[in-house]
Formats: sequence, structure tokens, C-alpha cells
Amino acid sequence: MNITDLIIKTTSHETNIELLNKEFFKFSDGAARHDRFHNVPYNNFDLSGVECEVGEFLYSLTRMIKPSRILETGTSTGISTAYFGLGLLHNNFGTINTIDPGECKEANQLIDDLNINHLVTFTKIHAENYSTEEVFDIAFLDSEPKLRFNEFIKFYDNVVPGGIILIHDLNRNMGSVENWGNYETTLGGFIKDEKIQIFSFWTPRGLVMFQKPHPENNY
Ligand SMILES: C[S@@+](CC[C@H](N)C(=O)[O-])C[C@H]1O[C@@H](n2cnc3c(N)ncnc32)[C@H](O)[C@@H]1O
Repeated sequence: MNITDLIIKTTSHETNIELLNKEFFKFSDGAARHDRFHNVPYNNFDLSGVECEVGEFLYSLTRMIKPSRILETGTSTGISTAYFGLGLLHNNFGTINTIDPGECKEANQLIDDLNINHLVTFTKIHAENYSTEEVFDIAFLDSEPKLRFNEFIKFYDNVVPGGIILIHDLNRNMGSVENWGNYETTLGGFIKDEKIQIFSFWTPRGLVMFQKPHPENNY
């Protein structure tokens, strides 16, 4: 069974993401990665897309905060787009704009097969060349690691007060030992000036979530 069939099967069970992940596990046995705390295997469709458990989190986040608009950089085969899209589908509203300079044919096919193409806009451009006046409730940054801090800066003003920015593959060391660039000179000012608060998750590849302040949040 291929990825599309597995996702179609799952979407017939409106909230049954667990089934999806079980099927993924069978499918992606060889690609399992381990978490950093307990050496427990995570599941993966492929080595480019988000881990299934991370996808499940993105789905749940979408279900929980009910975003009107989601921005994504780095579409690739569309795994994270699919999880966000399923969340939007089950919310009955909201859309996602996913940006990638590549053709992303597999992603297009996946989103088509899931019947969620009315919720997804594919924008074929380098994210650094993309500008919009639109505002987003969630920005998910998953292009090339070295680009993502600058994407954070670029799209910060496009995220609503209290909105969420997520950077995939970023570990709690903020990329200090990898080829990410210097987070202190890029994101340091946002942290120092309390323009952002940070949650860092110890997933196999890393995931850092940032929240912008909102006038009604007292922290
Ligand atoms: C790690 S993959 C994305 C995985 C995807 N989010 C998923 O879960 O399936 C990275 C993608 O970033 C894209 N990319 C590379 N440079 C980019 C840029 N300047 N702007 C946007 N996307 C870029 C690549 O073409 C590739 O498809």
C-alpha cells in the first residue's frame, strides 16, 4: 500500500490519526528514528517529511487552535502539509499556503488524493522571495535549515499576536552545533526583547515552537 492509499484510508476515519500512524509504522519500518530521551522509535514516511508523531502534533495543534491561515515553507512530498490539511478539513475551515521552489509533484498528488486541494495553495517560489500582506495563525518553517532563522525574521510580522511559529529539525541547542547560522545574531533580539516565548521538544529531529505575545497574555 502506498502513502496515498494509507492516508485516504485514514481520512475515512475522521479523527483516527492513530490508525494512520500504525499504518505508517508498517510502511516506514526501515526509516524509524529514535527520540532523544528514551530511545523509542518514531515513525517516518520518508527521510524528508516530518516524523509521524510530529505530524500528529501538527494535526492536533490545528484542531486545537483552529487557524484561519497557515503558512508553510518547504513542501517536499507534502507530509506536513497533509497533516495540517487534515486538521483544517476536520475543523471545516481554514487554508494553508505552502511554499517551495520545486515541482512537488508527489505533494500535489497526495493533497489531490486526500481531496483537500481546496484547502491548499502551492506557491512555487523561494521563500526568501515571497512577500505577502496576509497574516497567519501558524507559520511552519521547514525549508533548508540555513534559511529558517531568516524566514522567522521575514515572516514574524505576518504572524498574528499570540500566533505560533514552528521550526522543524531545530534542536534545543538552537542549531548551535549544526549548519543553521547563529541564532543569537538572528533570533537573539526577539528572545531578549520578549517578542517571543519558546518551547523546545526533544523529538528525533528537533522541533522548536515559538509564540508571539498577545496583549491579553500576562507573561
Ligand atoms: C525537509 S523538506 C520539507 C519537508 C516537508 N515539510 C514535509 O514534512 O514533507 C525541505 C524542502 O524545502 C525546499 N526548499 C529548499 N529551498 C527552499 C527555499 N528557498 N524556500 C522554500 N523551500 C525551499 C526543498 O525543495 C524541499 O522540498
